[in-house]
Amino acid sequence: MTEALQRSVDTYFSTLFVGSDPALDGALSASTAAGLPEIQVSAPQGKLLHLLARMRNARRILEIGTLGGYSAIQMARALPPDGRLLSLEFDPKHAEVARANIARAGLAEKVEIRVGRALDLLPTIATEGGGPFDLVFIDADKEHNPDYFGWALKLSRPGTMIIVDNVVRDGAVLDAESKEESTRGTRRVLEMMASEPRVTATAVQSVGAKGWDGMAMAVVLP
Ligand code: SAH
Ligand code: DHB
Ligand code: MG
Repeated sequence: MTEALQRSVDTYFSTLFVGSDPALDGALSASTAAGLPEIQVSAPQGKLLHLLARMRNARRILEIGTLGGYSAIQMARALPPDGRLLSLEFDPKHAEVARANIARAGLAEKVEIRVGRALDLLPTIATEGGGPFDLVFIDADKEHNPDYFGWALKLSRPGTMIIVDNVVRDGAVLDAESKEESTRGTRRVLEMMASEPRVTATAVQSVGAKGWDGMAMAVVLP
């Protein structure tokens, strides 16, 4: 009952703040048609990422975990004309669907998707001088969250915002003895974010279309 109400509130907020949006709606239906898992951020969460990118005046954004490009579209829309988003995706099929979705959203010039394991791609991005990024959204395989946070820091500057998705997972995060690599990766990244002197951070829970979950966020200090 409560969960149904939470979902209804999410629908209400989505209608108000996102509404019908051909690029986003098209991205979701194309992703479903292609058989991609429906695990993208919710509509209000996507809009939150958009707001955060705007608040940060982000010119360069790094995303780890593209899926069908839903979150990438929301973040890329916050970029100025010369802004760029680089998104890393392991699955070539996801990347192909995302590229089509992003092109349909009119964002092909601003968004680059690289295919491969993020941990294999990140060293090249660093040596290419791809950073620093103003915003990093970490949303891929959760067991590698600690490594991704390390790379995000390496590719950051003071003011960079680092966001980690799915840090609650129905309360699974509380299990300090968890055998799940994803839970262990999430707990470790939270501990890193909390104790890393170069950042200040928090985590917030969320309910709604994605069930009970949450995001952690950190900002790199001056
Ligand atoms: N950010 C997306 C959702 C990403 S879902 C959105 O909200 O719209 C997680 C994605 O990470 C999946 O597409 C999965 O294929 C990808 N992924 C999993 N392991 C990865 C890895 N090691 N490197 C890069 N991408 C990975
Ligand atoms: C799921 C949701 C996510 O946002 C994600 O990044 C991975 C998995 C899920 O609902 O299973
Ligand atoms: Mg996620």
